[in-house]
Amino acid sequence: MGIKKEDSLRINIDKCEFLVGRINFVSDEIFNLEKEKIFSKCWLYVGHDSELEKAGDFVTRQVGGRSVIFVKDRDCKIRALLNTCPHRGAQVCREKSGTAKSFQCFYHGWVFSNSGKLVGLPGDDSYTDGFIDNPEKSLTPVPLHSAYRGFHFICFDKGAISLSDYLGNAKEYLDLVVDQAEFGAEIVGGTQEYAIDANWKLLAENSYDGYHAPTNHSTYFDYLKNTTGGLNGSKLEGVGLDLGNGHGVIEYTAPFGRPIASWIEAWGEDGKVRINKIYARLVERFGEERASRIAKFNRNIHIFPNLVVNDIMALTIRTFFPLAPNHMHVNAWSLAPVGEDDVDRKERMFNFLEFLGPGGFATPDDIEALENCQLGFRNMLEARWNDVSRGMNKEEPASDDEEQMRGYWKEWSRRVFDT
Ligand code: FES
Ligand code: FE
Repeated sequence: MGIKKEDSLRINIDKCEFLVGRINFVSDEIFNLEKEKIFSKCWLYVGHDSELEKAGDFVTRQVGGRSVIFVKDRDCKIRALLNTCPHRGAQVCREKSGTAKSFQCFYHGWVFSNSGKLVGLPGDDSYTDGFIDNPEKSLTPVPLHSAYRGFHFICFDKGAISLSDYLGNAKEYLDLVVDQAEFGAEIVGGTQEYAIDANWKLLAENSYDGYHAPTNHSTYFDYLKNTTGGLNGSKLEGVGLDLGNGHGVIEYTAPFGRPIASWIEAWGEDGKVRINKIYARLVERFGEERASRIAKFNRNIHIFPNLVVNDIMALTIRTFFPLAPNHMHVNAWSLAPVGEDDVDRKERMFNFLEFLGPGGFATPDDIEALENCQLGFRNMLEARWNDVSRGMNKEEPASDDEEQMRGYWKEWSRRVFDT
């Protein structure tokens, strides 16, 4: 390997300096190592329980560079199958989503049940007896598949640690999200899909970067001045945490309404009554302290390597995957509590689109920033390092510091360089 660890990451504890090599964002060699050592080894988010309501429901996804069918079979078992025909390789399902008892490969017509079993093939008299029951002729399941509170993950490394151990401290934060939904959470609407001409790790960093909010999203905070009074001071107040295993979170207060029990004036007196009711129920279920944390605090959670769960003015799930060092595809979904009041749901979806949607206040600003950084990396031979040192001198880094990113980079480096 040509690139050395010291060209990639430079940490000087005494000087409180944490430098990330810009080579990591542009190199084909690094990109190939990431495919092998990260996307083929880590647990990767594939989908949510609620996307598969009834037997036969399926969605197809690209996960970790593989084509996957995420499906509820006729026995209501949720499976993740590789979307490639055991015959000669075609993708047996070419729809994005739907309901099916079976999948028929369009090339030569092999038929698979929704559990992946080969159940029919044209001209079967030309095959030996028992051919159809050979498990190798059925769709291949992904090596590992597990779920945590409705979030399904897959892993292409049979020897990986359990999902529960992998998520580790991040489970506490996923719990704070899922506990909002007394009757379960559901994906609302379809998938938002877009592409960004930037390295995928820039989006990982951006997803829990509290530092950029007041500047890069100044338009949004100016707009909030009309509804909530805007930022209190010039920053978001809260903490930034490295959760281990590369996961991280920022948890903070902010001047936007949260449909889960944080009221703003713009929602009117009726809204106040509804929100108070939701809050009272949270207190009943979890006690005052946890209820207050759930309702009043925002969380941007990043699960290594490429899952973001934002619990802010709405709930969003987002994954991203690189197709090249300077190009990624992004998928995003809105998550909401089942049984939510219609008006609260409307406010939630408005919040979601207004800030998080591809045409909202935040996403275009962030894409512009990320693509601009990527352009800046053209100068990386002479200007080699990104600085991720903010808050390194503090015992309790804040939500606008960069502790959570340092945890991410250490794990990234450990995996890429086998250290
Ligand atoms: Fe699927 Fe031939 S490639 S039936
Ligand atoms: Fe942003």
